[in-house]
Amino acid sequence: MKGRVFNGMRPTGRLHLGNYLGSVVNMVALQEDYDCYFCIVDWHALTTGYEDTTELQNNILSIAIDWLSSGIDPNKCVMFTQSNVKEHAELHLLLSMITPLGWVERVPTYKEQLRQLEGRNIATYGFLGYPVLMAADIMAYKADTIPVGEDQIPHIEIAREMVRRFHFLYQCSIFPEPEAKLTKFALLPGIDGRKMSKSYGNEIHISDTPEEIRVKVAQMITDPERIRKTDPGHPEVCVPYQFYKAFTPQEYNNVARECRGAQVGCVACKKRLADIIVQRMAPIYDRRQELLRRPDDVIDVLHEGARKARLTAGDTLAEVRQAMNLRDF
Ligand code: TRP
Repeated sequence: MKGRVFNGMRPTGRLHLGNYLGSVVNMVALQEDYDCYFCIVDWHALTTGYEDTTELQNNILSIAIDWLSSGIDPNKCVMFTQSNVKEHAELHLLLSMITPLGWVERVPTYKEQLRQLEGRNIATYGFLGYPVLMAADIMAYKADTIPVGEDQIPHIEIAREMVRRFHFLYQCSIFPEPEAKLTKFALLPGIDGRKMSKSYGNEIHISDTPEEIRVKVAQMITDPERIRKTDPGHPEVCVPYQFYKAFTPQEYNNVARECRGAQVGCVACKKRLADIIVQRMAPIYDRRQELLRRPDDVIDVLHEGARKARLTAGDTLAEVRQAMNLRDF
């Protein structure tokens, strides 16, 4: 039997190239070998962004379009929006009953985020429950394989403990223990060398035009010690080099050699990089433009996805209610 994948992505804005290479490319590949559920987790977005929800629907549509244009195929996976499948909320509620406070208070990202997102008031019940909602996402589909980055490991660990605790309390074995499938991809820096992040405004988006990509690549920080073209460069401290590594795994050794040997200048090197990125993203950009003209079709895809997701999650919830002696009359 095929393994089952669940992945969730928060609709907090347009996806960037870090999301694309680190996650979306991986999802496209997983569609071939797994039973995949790809979910736009709008309730998770509300845990930190509940105050201003005006952009929520735009952001959901934007991620759906980014996914579809990148090759996520609704004939090969189920893609849908979390809030359209109420079973996530029911399972979240039931799991919250059996979640010891210590488990959620101990999550390293919890205290860190409280500190980082200071300014925003996220000392809320909902935000504390973030990992419980995530466990509910995964368990509602009995998913066994979760493609995530390093940062999500503590959350997956809680989901595993939750499965064990549920089985122990209600003497059943409904769920597989989900495992993280780490994405191998190295983090892409932003154009300024810091982490690629909306809060720094240093992202390159999947939806950027070829012109925007060229401007941003030209702005990338290179080796500060390389002042003249004849100075030998240090690719390991150069932002464009990280992108070469990500986009041309076959070629980046040559790029490094030419840089160290002062055979190519930074301006020419960046031009070449921009060509490579633009060329790689061009078909995606074109499909995106095409989908933007028919948003109703994209919404139909999400509706159909939610319908399928409800069937699976509904079956699981029936088992859960039975195990807990809850009954629909
Ligand atoms: N917390 C995940 C993130 O920020 C998003 C997410 C929500 C998720 N539910 C999930 C990821 C379930 C994997 C499985 O990236």
